[in-house]
Amino acid sequence: MQIDIFDSPDILAQLTARKIIDMVSRKPNALLCLAGGETPRLTYQYIVEGAKNNGIDFSLVQFVSLDEWVGIPASNKGSCYYFLHETIFEPLAIKQTNIHFFNSTAGNLSAECERINQIIQNLGGIDLMLVGIGMNGHIGFNEPGISPYLFAHVIELDIITQQVGQKYFSEITPLQKGISLGMAQFMQSGMVILLATGNKKAPIIKKALEENVSAAVPAGFIQEHTNAFVLLDSEAAGLLS
Ligand code: PGA
Repeated sequence: MQIDIFDSPDILAQLTARKIIDMVSRKPNALLCLAGGETPRLTYQYIVEGAKNNGIDFSLVQFVSLDEWVGIPASNKGSCYYFLHETIFEPLAIKQTNIHFFNSTAGNLSAECERINQIIQNLGGIDLMLVGIGMNGHIGFNEPGISPYLFAHVIELDIITQQVGQKYFSEITPLQKGISLGMAQFMQSGMVILLATGNKKAPIIKKALEENVSAAVPAGFIQEHTNAFVLLDSEAAGLLS
């Protein structure tokens, strides 16, 4: 695991975008899993800018969902799909056939998990996963206490996730369950990048990176990944020894 600390979220975002663009240059048909959430927003702007300015072809890149709120349709601004559609898919004109997202309103969510697991397997596995870290240490919706061996699954959301998640919605929205890739898929991904910015993430970053690895802080499993980058701004890194 390599930890890099940057003076500002802006420099962090530029460097992160560069890593993703490099991956696509090396492997034009890479399978990427990009998280929603506030942290990577600036990175996505730089990816779009970088791809356009340098003529990087994203037409063969495949995208798989990290997570979704169960019952919230893709048309809702708070959904992960909506966010990525606005920030990446639409600006880079990604074909719908290259986008593999959970349908979190499907009647049979277990079948939906299986469908996504199968797509990942058929595409040869995830090449790069870019994730944030929740205030409770989650990655995707792998909440504290989760088994590290799970693939895609439906999960009862932690109370912290239910509360913090309100920030993505314009009105109070009940958020009880999530559908998410599992830690097994995170650990098997060819490269993982975890981003964190701001003072509020400093305590959980310290736990994830400096405490013994345990399911209590799922992001801590990144310590055991063999090709992992943790990219922090100076605020998020503020409590590290
Ligand atoms: P955030 O979300 O980037 O909006 O802080 C991170 C997460 O919950 O994984």
